[in-house]
Amino acid sequence: MLKWWQRTIVYEAYPSSFMDTNGDGLGDLQGLISKLGYLQSLGVGAIWLTPIYKSPMGDNGYDVADYYAINPLYGTMADMDQLLAAAKRHGIKIVMDLVVNHTSSECPWFQASSSGKDNDYSDWYIWRDGAEGGPPNNWGSIFGGSAWTWSEQRQQYYLHTFAPFQPDLNWENPKVRQAIYAVAQFWLAKGVGGFRIDAVPYIKKPQDYANGPVNPATGFAPIHNATANTEGILDFLHEFKQEVQGDRDIFTVGEANGVAAQQLPLWVGKDGVFDMIFEFSHLDVKFADGELWYKTKAWRLTELKQTIAASQANTSSNGWYPIFLENHDQPRSINSFLPEEADPILGAKALGMLLLTLRGTPFIYQGQELGMTNVDWTSIDCFNDLSTKNQYQLALDNGLTTTQAMKVMQKYSRDNARTPMQWSAQPNAGFTMGKPWLAVNANYKSVNAELEAEDKDSVLNWYRKLYSLRQEYEVLIEGDYKELLADSEEIFVYSRSTSTAKATVLINFTENTVSYPAELVEGTDPVLSNYENVQKGVLRPFEAVLYIALIK
Ligand code: GLC
Ligand code: CA
Repeated sequence: MLKWWQRTIVYEAYPSSFMDTNGDGLGDLQGLISKLGYLQSLGVGAIWLTPIYKSPMGDNGYDVADYYAINPLYGTMADMDQLLAAAKRHGIKIVMDLVVNHTSSECPWFQASSSGKDNDYSDWYIWRDGAEGGPPNNWGSIFGGSAWTWSEQRQQYYLHTFAPFQPDLNWENPKVRQAIYAVAQFWLAKGVGGFRIDAVPYIKKPQDYANGPVNPATGFAPIHNATANTEGILDFLHEFKQEVQGDRDIFTVGEANGVAAQQLPLWVGKDGVFDMIFEFSHLDVKFADGELWYKTKAWRLTELKQTIAASQANTSSNGWYPIFLENHDQPRSINSFLPEEADPILGAKALGMLLLTLRGTPFIYQGQELGMTNVDWTSIDCFNDLSTKNQYQLALDNGLTTTQAMKVMQKYSRDNARTPMQWSAQPNAGFTMGKPWLAVNANYKSVNAELEAEDKDSVLNWYRKLYSLRQEYEVLIEGDYKELLADSEEIFVYSRSTSTAKATVLINFTENTVSYPAELVEGTDPVLSNYENVQKGVLRPFEAVLYIALIK
């Protein structure tokens, strides 16, 4: 028997950019409430809300100052309660983002911890003396620079996997773990449907804090390599599972960059720690060095298919995982996975087909269902994201021209996903009556929810059709996955099957017309295609077709 969260579609909402109702240019909780009907019409059963806690917003909420308070920029606790109640009426659960690896440096826990070595919070963060007049070791943080920052007040260094204003919590301290479980309990009592656990592979550190091999391009040893998925982490997470989840009917999904497909059974299997984890190997195929956006590589479709096949295989009989092509940290999928010449509507539909027909819970990132695309900004001043600024500087330091570096940002900046949601052709895409905190993508007049709702051939209505097909054909939810034509560098083909039905999905990732053995779909009918007049044996550029056969 599958659980509710294995059958549903999850929608990731990035509140800052979703819908603004008070004209301050930043999305808010009332904005989310106003769009619940829209999300229900997409078949969304849960919204993963990126952090809405009180925060100085150095990393847009991933720097939490108070886990028990709502960021006044987004609204009040009363708005949050209203959102939970209204969502419930729409059959939608709210899933909170638990940022547990670090807090904001403005969190009272850190303020106490940095004030001295002998108070109740002294051991809540990771403090070390320096070595040879510098930081304790050579680790470099994910957002650039040393992973250690000196505290004048405490006369020691503290560790931060991300920015200096995001000090890492000390998970070795049982009091810290209990404090986190208490946060989760508080939100569970409010009726949330689950948690997405942020940056979770970093919570455990190797206790020798040894130097690592330096990346010459940054001058540091990447902290990711030193700490991600450190031995012993699962002990913490088993405790988390027991304390937070128990036998509640919620789901947990960990952000697990650095956990390989082969380890999925340990993390999400029967005796695992979460219900699902985001596994990143399919997003990593495009990078030659995961630390540097400018070091990309040409990738082949077979590489992408192999990463997906590996995750599918490792969850086929034990465990489950989320399907995702986009989130608030990734560029838009059409720009990542398809060539530049791809027709944006055909391409968005082709990727939507992939997202909603693989085996797993699909996670739609806001605007993906409209076919939103990357930005074409030409100045670094247009960008807000701190990691974009760091990556831009790294590209320049390593010899790229400003034009070349700008191209890299257009392709990989996290702000590509963070531009305001495109609701209509009204000024600022109907997102705000004021000045949006981040510029709206220039294509909003043709790519927006209002227009697409009216057009039966739109990307939005394609997503709705895929949702209703998932309702109609159980095989799309439960069916076993089997890859076909695995060696093809042009088309992605797989089947899903149960004892009563077989679905076959064919997606052309290229601008060429490609033929395939028509026997693969013999005796079955196309139920959805992004072209008219489907012909068996041939796929036109970026064509995506779903065939279903019922077995008597
Ligand atoms: C996660 C979030 C990302 C954030 C980082 C630090 O990767 O998805 O947006 O910057 O954690 O909290
Ligand atoms: Ca607002």
